Amino acid sequence: MKKILMLILLFLPILGFSNSDSTKPPVTIVIFGSTGDLTARKLYPAIYNLSLEEKELNENFSLIGVGRRDLSTQDFYDSVHESLHKFSRNKPSEESWNSFKQHLVYQKADFNLESDYVGLKELLDQPDRKGNTIFYLATDSSYFPTIIHNLYKHGLVDQNEGSQFSRVIIEKPFGEDLDSAIELQGFISQFLDEEQIYRMDHYLGKEGMLKLMKLRFEDAKFESLFDQKYVSNIQMTLSETIGISTRANFYEKTGHLRDVVQNHAMQLLAIATMEPPLDLKIEEILKEKAKVLYAIRPYLNEEIAQNVIRGQYSPGVIDEKPVNGYRDEEGVPKTSQIETFVQAKMFIDNERWSGVPIYLKSGKRLPQQTTQVTFNLKSNPFQIDAITIVIQPKSQVLITRGEITEAYEIPMDPAHARREAYENLILATVEGDQSHFVTMDEVLSTWSLLTPVLKLWSTTPEEVFFYEAGQWGPKAAEQQIQQDGFQWKVFNYKINNTISGNK
Ligand code: BG6
Repeated sequence: MKKILMLILLFLPILGFSNSDSTKPPVTIVIFGSTGDLTARKLYPAIYNLSLEEKELNENFSLIGVGRRDLSTQDFYDSVHESLHKFSRNKPSEESWNSFKQHLVYQKADFNLESDYVGLKELLDQPDRKGNTIFYLATDSSYFPTIIHNLYKHGLVDQNEGSQFSRVIIEKPFGEDLDSAIELQGFISQFLDEEQIYRMDHYLGKEGMLKLMKLRFEDAKFESLFDQKYVSNIQMTLSETIGISTRANFYEKTGHLRDVVQNHAMQLLAIATMEPPLDLKIEEILKEKAKVLYAIRPYLNEEIAQNVIRGQYSPGVIDEKPVNGYRDEEGVPKTSQIETFVQAKMFIDNERWSGVPIYLKSGKRLPQQTTQVTFNLKSNPFQIDAITIVIQPKSQVLITRGEITEAYEIPMDPAHARREAYENLILATVEGDQSHFVTMDEVLSTWSLLTPVLKLWSTTPEEVFFYEAGQWGPKAAEQQIQQDGFQWKVFNYKINNTISGNK
């Protein structure tokens, strides 16, 4: 009992039960890439909701959008308003919008031009903004080094003035392989302390990820089942029905392994399989996450093709509507060999997971929009066949016995549950809580595992398998699991969000 209480105390900040006082610090959030897709879809709505609903941002917060386009104040207001109208979970009323827009400023800048940062500095030096600053780098990753360097040159990331902070959120992926991640870190660490760097992976702000952590470490009932003694295999699904939409340039450069597997999928894997932390420090939790990622068995070159299957969607049907193949998407070359699907088989070489195969399936244009991890069990005292943690479309723990699947309740903080991932993570940055962000050790361990795969793929582009949009990936993926004697299991959520059974 004492141990459980200790663990609950330990996870209070992670679970959103922050005990910070009600007077939030005034803060200025500066978004680089303010006219981009991510900013419109996620960042403006997140900041709006934080300011509105929870009053998590102090009355005198500012939001400065930095972009390369020449926008008038009115153009900027219009673009933010449109984003809130389309994407925010709380739609702006006239009153709330009039109040929110008082906090908005647009600053035109060419990110590469040192002189263009003078205007930003002037804005940040104004008395009502001088103080705590968060720089959100939501640009193409090639701009990260130069933006950080320029911020440094203008004294914008100094933290010498008492308790005021200057923090930098860096969007994923951090680097594009092991060498470039090391290089990026080497460069930015000349200008930023580690405590200023918030490496973003928005999955870490999702409710279901926290539920998974609570299930693993707070729930004494099933704790003993998460072990090679009882688990026969682990299946992770991160599937999307959407295609690449208008992101052809990005996808051609990035591909699915870099876009989703190296970050979101690996974070899910880490939390699902990490050891309980040894003591109550956040650093211990982060250390354990990195440790389990380092314990994933590296692939020998000759094993890669068999263990890591890549696919690309061809034309098919999603939600009863015909959709294009990847090569027919606007901006994609007709001969593209870029992967939009990955299925990987992995082993973790530690005592807990020794011999337990882990399968990860992730892709675009699959039949369902869902993220789930299932522990399939061998015979056990609870007579449970499977425990599934669903991250989306609904955060839920499901227990399956034979044909019957039931939801297993885990109490969560309602405020955290209500907020979207980006809201939780921007709030965590304001509060200086780095436990929701990716450490350099996690970056290095995941790139160490996956860089050999990328290298091999670049020399064998023809080995991409095709799958019809609306199917669960190429045949080779199905065969990989079948030949190990397992069957893929995904819970199917209908529109009313009730469990409708196994696939
Ligand atoms: C992003 C990827 O990081 O995550 C996208 O760049 C992907 O390609 C998205 O669609 C998935 O996030 P979510 O929250 O919709 O599951």
